[in-house]
Amino acid sequence: MARITLSDVTKSWGETQVLQPMSLEIEDGEFVAILGPSGCGKSTTLFLLAGLYAATSGEIAFDGHTVNRVDARDRNVGVVFQSYALYPNLTIRENIAFPLRFQQVDKAGVTQRVEDAARQVQITRLLERKPSQLSGGQQQRVALARALVKEPNILLLDEPLSNLDATLRIAMRSELKAIQKRLGMTTLLVTHDQLEAITMADRIICMNEGRVVQIGTPEDLYRRPANLFVAGFIGSPPMNQLAAEAMGHTLQVGRMRLPLTRALAGPVTLGLRPEDIRLGRGSIAGRVQMIEPLGREVFYRLETEMGPLHALEAGEHPRFAEGEALGFDISNDHALLFDGYGQRVTDTALTARAPLDA
Ligand SMILES: Nc1ncnc2c1ncn2[C@@H]1O[C@H](COP(=O)(O)OP(=O)(O)OP(=O)(O)O)[C@@H](O)[C@H]1O
Ligand SMILES: [Mg+2]
Repeated sequence: MARITLSDVTKSWGETQVLQPMSLEIEDGEFVAILGPSGCGKSTTLFLLAGLYAATSGEIAFDGHTVNRVDARDRNVGVVFQSYALYPNLTIRENIAFPLRFQQVDKAGVTQRVEDAARQVQITRLLERKPSQLSGGQQQRVALARALVKEPNILLLDEPLSNLDATLRIAMRSELKAIQKRLGMTTLLVTHDQLEAITMADRIICMNEGRVVQIGTPEDLYRRPANLFVAGFIGSPPMNQLAAEAMGHTLQVGRMRLPLTRALAGPVTLGLRPEDIRLGRGSIAGRVQMIEPLGREVFYRLETEMGPLHALEAGEHPRFAEGEALGFDISNDHALLFDGYGQRVTDTALTARAPLDA
């Protein structure tokens, strides 16, 4: 198994720097997800670790040993690429065996390892077929078996579930997580699907525009986002962001004034998760503009004295009607404040006391 260390790693293509200096450590056996919008540098990071791209500067180390100049095939990494194309003319068995062609494994050993890998992802029955005779989800598992067959120390997965339908994706999420736990490989999963990152990863690396914005547990990123980018990127439906003005111990939000635990001054943003708005109790006034039943939850668009707000409530049926006036309360514990630069303010919060009068 392996611990991964990146020290000031950058990547440029000619004049264009696509990866800003990146430093981080991934523990032995840890499952880490890289999450971020399209083009932020996720695949680039994974290619650097796989040894398919050379870093422009900085050091990449596995278990404390620099691997910058180690060939891809000697890094003992298993990779599932974003486009996981299988070789169409080879059988599934031959496809899975392919990465072993450079390794000193005898014929019986190859058979054994291919069948082990196939069993891990439950495709034993399909070994003699061609890729075109498999469903998308089955092909995706073959790609995974091909990554596992080398018995790698490190597993690098680039959007490995992106081509699956919703049901299969959820099933594969837990299957993949179980395989990773069973084999204990240090795993890096690239995804732009936050639910995938949140449900599978021990820690998440959130990236934007070639930069690491925050590294933390899923709960850290959800409840303690470093800035407005992470706050807005994580969570669906997204966090409400209300423009506000801090004046000492008072926060002015729309027509509302809320008490702060510590003095703060200037323009700030108040962040409220839709599920932290508790409808039907409390003294903040609002009116339902629109209702969207989402199955097991109901989504409300509200016009309130704090400004427009989105709220989410568990339950199949709406408890309020469009146009209805209601009172609500916000969870002070979970309300977040961001300064004028969009950075989260950590030493000030809303107090648990009732809102001040407007
Ligand atoms: N060969 C190249 N030459 C120049 N720029 C490149 C090259 N390859 C990638 N880039 C740029 O590097 C940036 C990061 O690309 P990367 O593929 O890592 O993004 P990503 O986060 O994986 O995005 P996606 O979610 O769309 O897969 C992009 O802006 C891309 O245009
Ligand atoms: Mg990519």
